[in-house]
Amino acid sequence: MALLDFTSLLAPGLPAAAKWNGFAKYNFVGGHNDADQVPLEALIKAMNEVLTREGRTLATYGLSSGPLGYRPLREFLARKLERTAGIRCDADEILITSGSLQALDLVNGILLSRGDTVIIEQATYQGALTRLARLGVEAVGIPLDSEGMRIDALAAALENLKRRGVRPKYIYTVPTVQNPTGTILSEARRHEMLRLAAQYGTAIFEDDCYSDLIWDGKRPPALYAMSQHGGVIHIGSFSKSVAPALRVGYIVAPWPLLARMLALKTDAGSGALEQMVLGEFCPRQFDAHVPALKRALRAKLETLMEALNEQFGTAAEFEDPRGGIFLWVKLPDKVDTQKLFAPALAAGVAINPGAEWSTDKDHGRSRARLCFANPSHEAIRAGIATLAEVCRREFGVPARIANVERLTAP
Ligand SMILES: Cc1ncc(COP(=O)(O)O)c(C=O)c1O
Repeated sequence: MALLDFTSLLAPGLPAAAKWNGFAKYNFVGGHNDADQVPLEALIKAMNEVLTREGRTLATYGLSSGPLGYRPLREFLARKLERTAGIRCDADEILITSGSLQALDLVNGILLSRGDTVIIEQATYQGALTRLARLGVEAVGIPLDSEGMRIDALAAALENLKRRGVRPKYIYTVPTVQNPTGTILSEARRHEMLRLAAQYGTAIFEDDCYSDLIWDGKRPPALYAMSQHGGVIHIGSFSKSVAPALRVGYIVAPWPLLARMLALKTDAGSGALEQMVLGEFCPRQFDAHVPALKRALRAKLETLMEALNEQFGTAAEFEDPRGGIFLWVKLPDKVDTQKLFAPALAAGVAINPGAEWSTDKDHGRSRARLCFANPSHEAIRAGIATLAEVCRREFGVPARIANVERLTAP
């Protein structure tokens, strides 16, 4: 009997994932973390302790904590968010999700319909852009500078949309160590953004998943904390501060909104073991773990910036990010990073082309996002040297001895 051909049965318009062929030798893509900094011994100990004490609660969906997620973890988050971001919330205003990607889906799920419009940073998280495209939602990009989203451009965009009779559903922002630019939205701009959101009757969707990774630890309060009129939904993650494979994120929102999201969260609860292990680990060790992680990340960033300076000279422009795991690099205009991608990968170097991280493809065209957290220092140096060779071969830049030219230039 002939095998069933599923293609005639598939729902129309389905995307398809590419098959995974392992990581590139020099892996600068994605949001992976530093393997040496996963606090393995402490996680093993926490897992043993929490399972020994409470393991039998695994017999019930949601443990003994209900559908919002493991209560000790939500209580830790409520304390931490108040201390670090100024957010005063109850553990019952926090919903634990399967990574903050599920948080993005749930927030989108309660707010967006096909044909809606949202406002978003011009260079932003690809996972947010692809979701919006799939939902048929228009994303209006707002340029950034060294203080984050430009408020003059935001005001102009809101006014422009209003003139067209469009009320955007939300302003999506990664205000505290922006992905990919690494900027922090200043407190003054946060006030302005809140004022504009209230004036135009739109919400703010605050994605704070990198806020634990600020080099000097200094940050303005969260938009959620500063808002006088509600109107902000805040999400975060343990992917960047502990480990992405745990798949633990969260949403902070008032209960009436969480109630809507919970009704859409049809997975009967996010994985319990990882919530339990974090709930045990974090109250005791999170605060000691994060500074060590930040030191390791900062050292890798230094290596990356040095390697770029050595190999690309003035052909690679970038600003030293305020924290995080990414460097957003501008190459000369004649370099198209989407065209650089395949030959670089063939040489073992994986990069994220900037156009995939931008609402304006031209803006992203000669830019690339490099994640420095996962490769070793040696791999960063060798990977950037290889990338420079490929880029020179394909686009004629950097010139062979770019750094020497730069040093000897008048
Ligand atoms: C801005 C932003 N939001 C959300 C996510 C999703 O992360 P996770 O689902 O691992 O929490 C990422 C991952 O890189 C991100 O950069």
